[in-house]
Amino acid sequence: MKILVTGGLGYIGSHVTTLLLNKGISVICLDNLENSSEVVLDGIKTITRRQPIFKNLDIRDKNLLRILFDEHIDIKGVIHFAAYKSVEESVRKPLQYYQNNVGGLLNLIEILTKEEIPLIFSSSCTVYGQSKKLPISESEPFQPPTSPYGFTKQVGEKIIEHSCTAYPNFSAILLRYFNPIGAHPTAKIGENPQGIPQNLVPFLTQTVIGKHPVLKIFGSDYNTPDGTCIRDYIHVMDLAQAHIDSLNFLISSKESIFETFNVGTGNGVSVLELIKTFEKVTGEKVPYEYCEARSGDTVSSFADVEKIEKKIGWKANYSLEEALKNAWEWEKNH
Ligand code: NAD
Ligand code: WQD
Repeated sequence: MKILVTGGLGYIGSHVTTLLLNKGISVICLDNLENSSEVVLDGIKTITRRQPIFKNLDIRDKNLLRILFDEHIDIKGVIHFAAYKSVEESVRKPLQYYQNNVGGLLNLIEILTKEEIPLIFSSSCTVYGQSKKLPISESEPFQPPTSPYGFTKQVGEKIIEHSCTAYPNFSAILLRYFNPIGAHPTAKIGENPQGIPQNLVPFLTQTVIGKHPVLKIFGSDYNTPDGTCIRDYIHVMDLAQAHIDSLNFLISSKESIFETFNVGTGNGVSVLELIKTFEKVTGEKVPYEYCEARSGDTVSSFADVEKIEKKIGWKANYSLEEALKNAWEWEKNH
């Protein structure tokens, strides 16, 4: 049995690949290296002492994708990470985002529905926008998307839902990630953003290592206890494990499945709390200053995680402290 991991050399895909290989599962890592590099394969091999089959392939190329499935008729599941993920870039390049995130998904799902191969899809808490209720449960309605990126996740979810309805033997799980952070505890793989990071934790670790003079906290007078925004930061290893548990659930089920799960810790943490926790666990000082709020930011977002725990028995195990310690070790190591 083989599992195809699209975007398998990216941040989250590489961590999932290590867990699959450690379980003795054969993995095909498909990646066009647009936001990753083959060096990630070395990290995966060092951690697992095994290696995935690597395919440098673009999911927008429908013919090559078809050939891949013809060559590997024993693919029993697909975990689909390959997509663009920058909110800011998606506003400048909406068409590229639709081509890759929606077009790429369509190419893949055409094959999966025909071959009846189950799918796990990387969705995001961004589909909720600023939810009216906290914690956010899976039944909360979508808010109007604040970026083309966010819209591609809403559309992607709908494409999969409609496909599950139309093709009764096709199964899928949508995983709505909250804020993934951290790195593999060995510090051999981690997040490697190109250019200036948009996300808080990579910007923070790069600032502490000296790549940026100061971390700007976007907004100080939000309606939260310390005035900074609240998020649900989930360790990438916990997130990776949620994929393994979802895959087991999909593959072992006798019936077709269509499920949506939040993947978070259930805990809301403010920007300031995160900085203070980083300082406590690493002993490093974070140079920071307050500045204007970032347009489009939601004030508070954290997950109701009851559903995934009840249905598949997954819950987060790593603490915020471990996640930040691992993020820092990775920053120093690569
Ligand atoms: P990433 O950019 O590190 O990984 C994506 C990988 O896909 C990269 O290695 C890239 O080279 C590859 N890729 C992109 N387009 C491709 C294509 N057309 N063909 C083949 N390979 C392609 O991103 P990530 O952080 O690992 O995110 C993975 C998925 O999770 C994405 O779908 C993203 O939208 C989603 N997600 C990420 C976050 C987050 O904060 N990291 C949060 C919620 C959802
Ligand atoms: C976290 C908090 C910022 C940087 C994004 C995407 C979302 C999802 C997860 C993919 C916010 C503050 C940040 C900085 C700061 N990704 N911040 N200074 O905005 O919750 O979500 O990543 O699906 O779609 O929008 O994450 O890490 O950018 O920000 O003060 O330099 O940190 O304002 O409150 P966000 P983030």
